[in-house]
Parts: sequence; C-alpha cells; structure tokens
Amino acid sequence: MTRVFSGVKPTGHLTLGNYLGAMRQWAAVDQYRADSLFCVVDLHALTVDHDPARVRRLSRQAATLLLAVGLDPELCTVFVQSHVDEHARLSYVLECVATDGEMRRMIQYKEKAARERERGGSVRLSLLTYPVLMAADILAYGADEVPVGDDQAQHVELTRDLAVRFNQRYGHTFVVPRATVPPVAARVMSLQDPGSKMGKSDDAGPGIVYLLDEPEVVRKKVMRAVTDSGREVVYDREERPGLANLLEILAACTGGNPEALSGVYESYGSLKKDTAEAVVELLRPVQERHRALCADPGYVEGVLRDGAERARAMARPTVDAAYRAIGLLPAVSDTDAGVVLNAAR
Ligand code: TYM
Repeated sequence: MTRVFSGVKPTGHLTLGNYLGAMRQWAAVDQYRADSLFCVVDLHALTVDHDPARVRRLSRQAATLLLAVGLDPELCTVFVQSHVDEHARLSYVLECVATDGEMRRMIQYKEKAARERERGGSVRLSLLTYPVLMAADILAYGADEVPVGDDQAQHVELTRDLAVRFNQRYGHTFVVPRATVPPVAARVMSLQDPGSKMGKSDDAGPGIVYLLDEPEVVRKKVMRAVTDSGREVVYDREERPGLANLLEILAACTGGNPEALSGVYESYGSLKKDTAEAVVELLRPVQERHRALCADPGYVEGVLRDGAERARAMARPTVDAAYRAIGLLPAVSDTDAGVVLNAAR
C-alpha cells in the first residue's frame, strides 16, 4: 500500500493556503487510499524566533484542526513530531550525507534568513538545517508520496537527493519519495500582495484568511483583496495575479476551473462576493468541528498519544537500519533482538 507522509508547522494560525494546498487533499483523498501519517511538525517551529507558550498553543490548535478538517484517526495516524524521537535521530545522520552548499541553495532558507537579517536578528543554525529534518520526517516512514503545496516541492526534491545518495553509499535503506501537489491552488497568494504566498507566519493579516476567521472577517478580507487595474475578468497569472488568485480560490472551493470561471463573471465585485461566500461555506463545517473538538481536549490528547505510539513503531526499524548502514555500532539490546542485522552488512 502506498505510504503518505505530510505535516504542518505550528508557526502561526493555519490558513486557507494550508487547507487548499495540502490539508484538504489529506482529508478528502489521501487518508482513504493510502497508509497515511499527518504530523504537527513542532520542531520546525523552533527554527525562527519563537515564544514557547505560543508554540505549545499553536501545536495543540494545529492538531485539533487536523481532526477538524476531517482526518480520521481510524484511517490515518495523526501525531506531533517531537513525541517521536526518530525524527531527530535520523536528522543527524542525514546531515552527514547533505552538504552545506545544498542547504544554502534552499529558497525558503534564503528568503527567511534575509528577512531575519533585515530585522537585525540572527539566523538560527536550525533554519539552515531545517530541510534535513524535513527529509528525516519523510524518510523515517518510507513514504512514497508527500502531498504538499508548491512551496515545499524544493524540499521534497532535496529529500529525494539525500535518499538516493544514502542508498548509493550505504546500501538500500530509504524509499525515494515524490511530492504530489494539487492541480488548483497549489500556491494560494496573499490577498493584499498577490506576488507573495499566503503564509501563516507573515505579518500581512488582512491578506491572509485563517481557517478560524469568523465569516464576517473572511468576507471583509476577500472583498478588500487587491485586484489589478483593468475591468474584464480574465485568468492570467502573470499579468493579473490578484484576479487569478481569486479565480483559483473560487475554483478550488467549488471544484471548478479558474479559466472557465473567468468567463462567468463580468465584474470584480461579483467575483469577490462569490469567492467570499465559497470560502465561508468551505470553512463552516471545519469551524463547527473545531468548536466541538475544543470542548473535548481529552479526545485530541488521546489521538495524539496513540498516533505517536503508532508512528514510533513505524519509524524505528528504518532509522535503526540507517544507523547500522552508515556504520554505527548496534546497541546490544537491538542485536539480541536481531533487528536488521543484515542492513549492517
Ligand atoms: P507549512 O506549515 O508552511 O505548510 C503546510 C502545508 O501547507 C502548504 N501551504 C500552501 N499551499 C498552497 N498555498 C499556500 N499559500 C500555502 N501555504 C502553505 C505547504 O506547502 C505545506 O504542504 N516544511 C513544511 C512542513 C513539513 C513537512 C515535513 C511537510 C515539515 N516536515 C514533511 C511535508 C513532509 C512547512 O513548512 O509547511
């Protein structure tokens, strides 16, 4: 059976971009057709300046939202990254396969590091090594597919490179995964700055629709979206990015096609109105389930406990195999258990 792994980072409140680019696919498709794991990748939230209490709060909220969008713990594994030591264990070994040049070429590193320096702050070393931890997240589970938005494609590409390199040097250990991105809304842009991604950690609040925004707030944000000069409603990502973004959001919400939808509207106003309503309707059931889950925190904790236990059992053999393959001496108790001695060769 196909194995799927993906995750979301608790650096801010989850957005419409997270939902349309990734989470919706996990809930609507992946959990039914594959052996899937979905993770709140909290270690990744420590790569930039952070407030410990906020990360804890956002981690709990992200886990609750994963369930609210429809992930069913009977069908898939939902857990928190830091509850499973194998991620950090494997990350170090993969750092011994990756190069610093490779890390410095990552677009997200370059952008975030530049932003941090502009603010006069320092760049954490973990921001540089972040993609290796992400590779460890994926490779530890032998995932075949990684459903993500477009912005994560480069990181998955790096993961593939590391898996191939490790396998070539030390013997076949890892499955080489591939990214899967949704056909529409793989990169939802900010409503205020259609040249930039709608990102949860960005400061541009009015340009970001959060999954827990009240309907009135959603309407206001969409109605105030920056569009381009011009009057006709046409779908052109290069020349009319603001309009294209709205058409893509509407298409993703309604199961339509942005190009076809552009022919339906005569004014920006009516397009915005329908887009706002479509987003409100899309989020309504998610928000309702979120409210119900918040009333039962014990349930969410139980899901995360069971999820971590399952995830640990899945990751352990692969990470142990990687340790042996790269030349680390097996611990005696593992030897006794006869765990993958073959991999040590
Ligand atoms: P994160 O937390 O930034 O985003 C979670 C998922 O949402 C997608 N996404 C978007 N898709 C479309 N439009 C947008 N505006 C938008 N914003 C976010 C992301 O592509 C992602 O799929 N590094 C990852 C988390 C991670 C991970 C992993 C993912 C850590 N380890 C292993 C997959 C596998 C991240 O920062 O995602």
